[in-house]
Amino acid sequence: MNEIRPIEWANGTLRLLDQTRLPSEEVIVEAHGYLEAVNAIKTMQVRGAPAIGVTAAYAVAMAARDLDITDKTAFMQRLEEAGVTIKAARPTAVNLMWAVDRMVGIANSESDTNSIKQRLLTEAIAMEKEDEVINRQMGDHGKDLIPEGGSVLTHCNAGALATAAFGTAVGVIRANWENGKHFSVFNTETRPFLQGARLTAWEFQKLGIPSTLVVDSAAGMLMRRGEIGCVITGADRIAANGDTANKIGTYTLAVLAKENGIPFYVAAPISTVDMSLSNGDQIEIEERSSDEVTEFRGVQIAPEGVEAYNPGFDVTPAKYVSAIITEAGIARPPFNESLNWAVNSAK
Ligand code: MRU
Repeated sequence: MNEIRPIEWANGTLRLLDQTRLPSEEVIVEAHGYLEAVNAIKTMQVRGAPAIGVTAAYAVAMAARDLDITDKTAFMQRLEEAGVTIKAARPTAVNLMWAVDRMVGIANSESDTNSIKQRLLTEAIAMEKEDEVINRQMGDHGKDLIPEGGSVLTHCNAGALATAAFGTAVGVIRANWENGKHFSVFNTETRPFLQGARLTAWEFQKLGIPSTLVVDSAAGMLMRRGEIGCVITGADRIAANGDTANKIGTYTLAVLAKENGIPFYVAAPISTVDMSLSNGDQIEIEERSSDEVTEFRGVQIAPEGVEAYNPGFDVTPAKYVSAIITEAGIARPPFNESLNWAVNSAK
């Protein structure tokens, strides 16, 4: 099977599959320096928590490579400044901050600026490879979640495009499919940026997994009719108590799932767990441009001058989450204990 790899490092350049152009065009954009990588994150040419983390790692490596300073203290000061800029690209997905902190920590442990430059590039490449391994491990842990003849609903895009390869929530769905089972897949269009309609539907087609696209607001009706056996989403940040930030609309799906007695699963790597936050109220939620709501591809769809509010994410309280699939295994409530175990076993 041809793997989808949205991020590629080649000849000193970061090559990204432009996710703003999919599915109509498969265009590669190149980032030659760290500010171009930051721009790609800001404009969502690359998106999804783990993919943002891997891009940030390459951004730190490029920032270091392009510094013409040999004094380590001065070098580290400038690298840390670049790190602050990279971290500010988007606020909610903690993988971005996690990746920058990991890279800067490694830079600090090296003795001179040449070895920092070499080591950071090696580390970014390793983080890209590691992400695929982790996603496949999650798939393996979750490969029995969907029963033969069952059905699953996913939201937004938590597939290969949102990672280095394979995906998190879509990875788990794929692992179930590759485990020989047949089941129905529904995916929401995910207003307003349409990650579901444009990206997840495209991925399922490439994978040869039949899927049905539904508008976000059809989910409740499908659940009530018994057509959804479980829900699996990704996450952008998970607090220590299991409260989960993910694409706007996830909370609605989780409440609907509980109301209808349907398990609600989250698939996310440990790098998405933020043990420094005791609960989800402390997670910063990105507020995006109101144009995404009032316009569609540059065409005004709401009355001129209308107010629109566009939060990019919401927080699903842990009480609605049945289990969190990580590379360490499946964490179940109470999450304060199980996430602690998962974080420690992934160290
Ligand atoms: O705004 P986006 O497209 O970056 O949001 C992405 C999501 O919400 C995903 O579900 C999440 O990052 C998990 S990706 C494996």
